[in-house]
Amino acid sequence: MPTLDVSVHLDPTSLAAQMADDVRDGLTRTPKVLPPKYFYDARGSELFDQITRLPEYYPTRTEREILTAHVADIAAATGATTLMELGSGTSEKTRLLLRALRDAGTLERFVPFDVDPAVLADASASVSAEFDGLTVEPVVGDFEKHLDQLPREGRRLLAFLGSTIGNLDVEQRATFLDGVRASLGQGDAFLLGTDLVKDPARLVAAYDDSAGVTAQFNANVLHVLNRSLGADFDPSAFAHRAVWDADQEWIEMRLESLRDQGVRVADLDLEVTFARGEQMRTEISAKFRREGITRELASAGLELVHWWTDPRGDFALSLSVPMS
Ligand code: SAH
Ligand code: AVI
Repeated sequence: MPTLDVSVHLDPTSLAAQMADDVRDGLTRTPKVLPPKYFYDARGSELFDQITRLPEYYPTRTEREILTAHVADIAAATGATTLMELGSGTSEKTRLLLRALRDAGTLERFVPFDVDPAVLADASASVSAEFDGLTVEPVVGDFEKHLDQLPREGRRLLAFLGSTIGNLDVEQRATFLDGVRASLGQGDAFLLGTDLVKDPARLVAAYDDSAGVTAQFNANVLHVLNRSLGADFDPSAFAHRAVWDADQEWIEMRLESLRDQGVRVADLDLEVTFARGEQMRTEISAKFRREGITRELASAGLELVHWWTDPRGDFALSLSVPMS
């Protein structure tokens, strides 16, 4: 197997410094909040992978269904030589794209990009093993900060699947999409997966599954803070909550304190208290409509040229290109 040259833009020291800033800021706000990127240590990525197979969690299999139906169109429309993938995780669905680009005869390079080095290393090794002769250049980085580190050469397709864009709020999305636009040139394209607004009961079930995997995923952030920042959270003293916010059109995941309690974060020299019933937001997962996402892309200088959905209209894949 070829050796993989992993480009690290997020070394453990800068990740720890960023986490310290984010956690101090989030735990001293009212209401308290934590950024979702800290779910993803090796255990968090493994739990997310389990979520993708849950009966209630329709986004992954629906996006795979749309990709299966349209990868050949995507390959033909883009003629990409380089596939770059943000928040790549296991890159499982991405193999459909890689195969289509290989079959179209254009594929040369794959650049998976993720904040979790563990999932990135596994995915890169497994893609290298499947795709003979493919150059795989994994990047450990934060897609809110390091988009300027994406390679510039070749005809590039930038994929952002799974509706991970929904984990950013509207301001963060605007900054992110500006960064996407700035990193792309004429001839390049942006493939975006977006989960769509639907019956709230189905949405809530997708984030509060009966097997309790999403609850474990949610609590994992407390384990990450205990290990990385010397905090003493008792994860069993918090309950998982998933709430649909109809005004914002997003699911909020929260951790609710089951008792009055104090938590010390040793590395930050910070003590915080939680009242019984107090809820801390750990993630938003925004759901989209075609008009809204078209507008957000256009504001960043990206023109939506294709829109594909499943027959039920649950999820969408869009292809956009830089406006000239
Ligand atoms: N794209 C995959 C995985 C989605 S899970 C799919 O569609 O199934 C979200 C992925 O994004 C995780 O692998 C997580 O580690 C990564 N991630 C979350 N926040 C990130 C950030 N700020 N920068 C880079 N990667 C991030
Ligand atoms: C990665 N992201 C798009 C997932 C989502 O659906 O918002 C993360 C997740 N949170 C709970 N379940 C899955």
